Amino acid sequence: MTDSPAQAPVLRLAPSILSADFARLGEEVRAIQTAGADLVHFDVMDNHYVPNLTIGPLVCEAIRPHVTIPIDVHLMVEPVDALIPLFAKAGANIITFHPEASRHVDRTLQLIKEHGCRAGLVLNPATTVDWLDHVMDKLDMILLMSVNPGFGGQKFIPSTLGKLRAVRQRIAAHQAAGGQPIWLQVDGGVKVDNIHEIVRAGADTCVAGSAVFGAPDADGGYRTVISALRRAAHPTE
Ligand code: DX5
Ligand code: ZN
Repeated sequence: MTDSPAQAPVLRLAPSILSADFARLGEEVRAIQTAGADLVHFDVMDNHYVPNLTIGPLVCEAIRPHVTIPIDVHLMVEPVDALIPLFAKAGANIITFHPEASRHVDRTLQLIKEHGCRAGLVLNPATTVDWLDHVMDKLDMILLMSVNPGFGGQKFIPSTLGKLRAVRQRIAAHQAAGGQPIWLQVDGGVKVDNIHEIVRAGADTCVAGSAVFGAPDADGGYRTVISALRRAAHPTE
């Protein structure tokens, strides 16, 4: 492997089922697992924190038996806390939330962990990384939004690259001081043609919705696009 210092050695791909065929969701999540996806990214929108309405714990529970890979629940809801036990019970493995949507960020992180899930914060494109300052020890993942949350199929916001580099440095400093590993995820507008620069900037976990589920389905599943994303991310491997 020829990783530069800024580059994480692993790449986790998290297809967002926001762009899947909701009428065939079980089949869709099985297909992405078979194709080599690492996580199922599950976008929860409440028509309050974001101007869209999607899926909740009942749908999480319904897809849970269809896959063994972790379900990565991205909460775009306000307030946050009441949904955490429901998603944990529904089989979520990772739960992330937007800090400005929680009255007590530290408490919400603890609540997620108490329910046996990995916890993460999500920062919107205009949200400062200062939110991370006092909770690094409680984070399993940091998610940087590279679009404004609410819809699939938007264009990647380039200033995310600098933010990824800054957060990658914070994680490195945290780990150098004896801290736990923290995954760095990016969400929004990730495609075959930009994933390389995204990974080079420090992301180790990439959400891709429309790029995966909107891909030409030549192989009867999503193997072609998942392997194209991996190859594009690390072209020298
Ligand atoms: C946006 C969601 C994303 C979205 C990504 O609010 O959080 O997960 O589904 O979709 P693409 O990859 O199409 O930008
Ligand atoms: Zn998402």
